[in-house]
Amino acid sequence: MNVGSGNFRVLNLGEMAFNHLDTRCLYILLLCTAFGSTSSSNAEIKVNPPQEFEIVDPGYLGYLCLQWQPPLSLDNFKECTVEYVLKYRNIGNENWKTIITRNLHYKDGFDLNKGVEAKIHTLLPVQCTNGSEVQSAWSEAIYWISPQGNLETKIQDMDCVYYNWQYLFCSWKPGMDVHFDTNYNLFYWYEGLEHALQCADYVMVNGKNIGCRFPYLKSSDYKDFYICVNGSSESQSIRSSYFIFQLQNKVKPLPPNFLSLTVKNSEEINLRWSMPEGPIPANCLIYEIEFTEDDTTWVTTAVENEVYITRTANESQQLCFLVRSKVNIYCADDGIWSEWSDKQCWKGEILKETLVFLLMPFACISLFILLVTCLLLYKQKAFKKMIFHTKKEVFSHQETHC
Ligand SMILES: *[C@@H]1O[C@H](CO)[C@@H](O)[C@H](O)[C@H]1NC(C)=O
Ligand SMILES: *[C@@H]1O[C@H](CO)[C@@H](O)[C@H](O)[C@H]1NC(C)=O
Ligand SMILES: *[C@@H]1O[C@H](CO)[C@@H](O)[C@H](O)[C@H]1NC(C)=O
Repeated sequence: MNVGSGNFRVLNLGEMAFNHLDTRCLYILLLCTAFGSTSSSNAEIKVNPPQEFEIVDPGYLGYLCLQWQPPLSLDNFKECTVEYVLKYRNIGNENWKTIITRNLHYKDGFDLNKGVEAKIHTLLPVQCTNGSEVQSAWSEAIYWISPQGNLETKIQDMDCVYYNWQYLFCSWKPGMDVHFDTNYNLFYWYEGLEHALQCADYVMVNGKNIGCRFPYLKSSDYKDFYICVNGSSESQSIRSSYFIFQLQNKVKPLPPNFLSLTVKNSEEINLRWSMPEGPIPANCLIYEIEFTEDDTTWVTTAVENEVYITRTANESQQLCFLVRSKVNIYCADDGIWSEWSDKQCWKGEILKETLVFLLMPFACISLFILLVTCLLLYKQKAFKKMIFHTKKEVFSHQETHC
C-alpha cells in the first residue's frame, strides 16, 4: 500500500517536470536538427565495465590484489589502448585512492581490521573516440575478513620498536575480556618474503606470549611491514588485530657516547660526542642536547655530532651536557628518541682548587716517604761500611795469627 502510493507520487512529479521541460526540449531538438547532426556518432560510443572484478587476499596480512578482465565487446576499439580507472579505500575512510592503469591488476596494502571497497570503470581515451573520453559504468567489489570474537578479545597496547635500525621488538597486552587459557600468536610479512611467517622467538610470561623478538629482517626498509596478532582459546573466539607500518619509522637509536666538553677560551665551548655504533648512517641522525650552565638548563638540536656554544657568564663554574638522538626527517617520517647519554661535566676553577686541595697532602706524604727512604738508605750504607771495617780488622787480626 505504502509502496504503491510512493510510486504514484514519483510518477506525478516526473510528469510535471516533463510537461515543464516539454516546450524547451522541443526548441533544442529543432535547433540541433537545423545545425546538422555531426555529434550523433560520438553519442553512440559505449563501452562495458571490466569483467570479473574481485579483491583477492593472498594471505599477506593486508597486501591485497585487485584484479579484473577486459570488458565485453572490446573488438570495436582494437586500435586503441583501453585504460581503467580504479578507486579503492578501507571502509570508513573518507578518501578514495585513484589509479589509472592499463594492467589487469593492482596491488596495495590495506588495514584488515576494516573492510575494503573498490570500484573500477573502463576508459576510452580521446584518441579512440574522435571526441571526448568515454567511460563505462562502475564495477564494484568488497572484501573483509569476517570478524571473530568480540572486540574485547583483541590484544591491547601493541608497541613495536626497531632498536638501532637492527632489532625489531614488539610487545602487547592480552585482551580485556579473555579466558586464562587464551594465547596469542604473531605473524608478519613484507614484500620479499614468500609467505607470512610466525614469530620464532616469543617473549613469554607464565607461558603466555606477550612479545616477539624478530630475526634479522633482510631488505625490509621503506616498504610496508604487515603484522597480524591472532589468538586461540578453548572457550571463545579471539579477534585478530592487524598492523601496517614501515620499519624506518620505528627506529630508536642507541644513546650517543664518548661525550667531551672543552672550554676553548673564556667564552666558547665545544661539545662533541660519537654517534651510536650500528647501521644508522651519520646523515640520518638528529641530536638533542640538554646543556646546563650552573643553574640554567636549555635544550638545542644539532645535525652533526658536535656543537659550539657560548658561555653566558664568565664565572660559570659548572657546565654539563647530555645528548640523545633520533632518525631525522630525511631518512624517515617518524622516529623514537634514544635514551639520554651519560652526563658529561666541566668544573671551572672549583675543579682546579679541589684538585690542588686533594693533591697537596698526597704530594706531602710522598715527599716525606721519599725523604725517610733516603735517610734509611744512607744510614744502612753507613752501617754496612762500619761492619765491613770491623770484618777487615778481624780478618787482619787472624792473618797475623797464622
Ligand atoms: C574517427 O574518425 C576517423 C576519421 O575521421 C574514422 O575513420 C573513425 O572511424 C572514427 N572513429 C570513431 C571511433 O568514431
Ligand atoms: C592466525 O593467522 C595466521 C596467518 O594468517 C593463520 O595462518 C592462522 O591460522 C591464524 N590462527 C588463528 C587461530 O586464527
Ligand atoms: C668575560 O671576560 C672577558 C675577558 O676577561 C671580558 O672581556 C668579557 O666582557 C667577560 N664577559 C662576561 C659576560 O662577563
